[in-house]
Amino acid sequence: MSTSVPSFSSLPSLPIVDIGKGEPDFHTPDHIKRAAHEAIDANFTKYTPQPGIDALREAVAAKFEGENGIRVSPADVVVSCGGKHSVEQAIRATIGPGDEAVILTPHWFAYPHQVHLAGGRPVLVPLDETHGYAVNATAVRRAITPKTRLLIINSPANPTGAVFSRVQLTELAALAVEHGLLVLSDEVYERLVYEGAEHVSIASLDDDIASRTITVNSVSKTHAMTGWRIGYAALPDNLARRVTGIQQNSTSAPCAISQRAALAALTGTQEHVERMVAAYAARRNLLLRLLKDIPEFSSTVPAGTFYCFVNMAAWIGRVLNKREIRGADDFAAVLLDAARVRVVPATEFGSEKHIRLSFAVSEEALQEGLGRVKSLLS
Ligand SMILES: Cc1ncc(COP(=O)(O)O)c(C=O)c1O
Repeated sequence: MSTSVPSFSSLPSLPIVDIGKGEPDFHTPDHIKRAAHEAIDANFTKYTPQPGIDALREAVAAKFEGENGIRVSPADVVVSCGGKHSVEQAIRATIGPGDEAVILTPHWFAYPHQVHLAGGRPVLVPLDETHGYAVNATAVRRAITPKTRLLIINSPANPTGAVFSRVQLTELAALAVEHGLLVLSDEVYERLVYEGAEHVSIASLDDDIASRTITVNSVSKTHAMTGWRIGYAALPDNLARRVTGIQQNSTSAPCAISQRAALAALTGTQEHVERMVAAYAARRNLLLRLLKDIPEFSSTVPAGTFYCFVNMAAWIGRVLNKREIRGADDFAAVLLDAARVRVVPATEFGSEKHIRLSFAVSEEALQEGLGRVKSLLS
């Protein structure tokens, strides 16, 4: 792909460059694919136990203990059809009509919808953009009511790329314990952290918070396995039984073959993870360099994930490509129409003033995409 900036008269014939993608561009590693082939060849193609095969639940429990410092029995692990499925089932198991769930925003788009689907009410509490989307514990405290049942947290965070510090997590844990809340901690980006950032699982802080925290993870982002649809959760307080009941009456257990592949991902070499993280780190640096040249963009430096959250508020109220920019949706539409560059407007993440860029795309795509955006906006 050429990295030269095109002339805009020729744009309609240019291929679209997607710099918004929410999944690894790497292929699933060979040893994981081999485990799936072997499962098929061995006719491991039937229904499995509802909460997942024993070997995988044991591997997940060992992973939580070894990597996250969360002590959990395999009996408290439920394997699901993806992190999204685990989040949804956890919400469904804990939220009922009238219950409130506190969600820190900007947020992954699915949380409020899933709370609504369970009959609950999402209560959005803004993170502090000027301090790298840090937790504002006072705002969280103010949002808690007698109806609050669940606090949903996501670190490393989609879409902001923020990683909550141990201090911030300790503050949230104290609030949860004080107010008797359950915590749902979505940690699907845990391995994608940069420049010494540390991922801390809130459930590892102490026994009190561990006993009220559901930790969700998945093989999607860490092992480039988005299409295999395997997630998992550590569920305290008999919630594993509840979630198993929900799964039994909805999807049944996840795909047998994918479970064997996930087992290989968790128990085999982790060399591929290091390789992918090194590539993301290099692309992140490139993206941050390229962003410096784009007029009137500001962004925080993402400590984790493969996203960069860009504030484009300076463009609101102006006209670009004959279109009035009223917010992120208009802005993203203009980038697509006029520069053939796809980014994700943050409207569904809770902001009209931001777009989400991804560095789970090639360096060529970043150079080409940002080059076109720069030409359009300059
Ligand atoms: C924050 C967050 N949680 C959960 C998921 C779900 O991932 P999956 O269902 O592929 O495991 C995603 C996917 O984009 C995500 O960004």
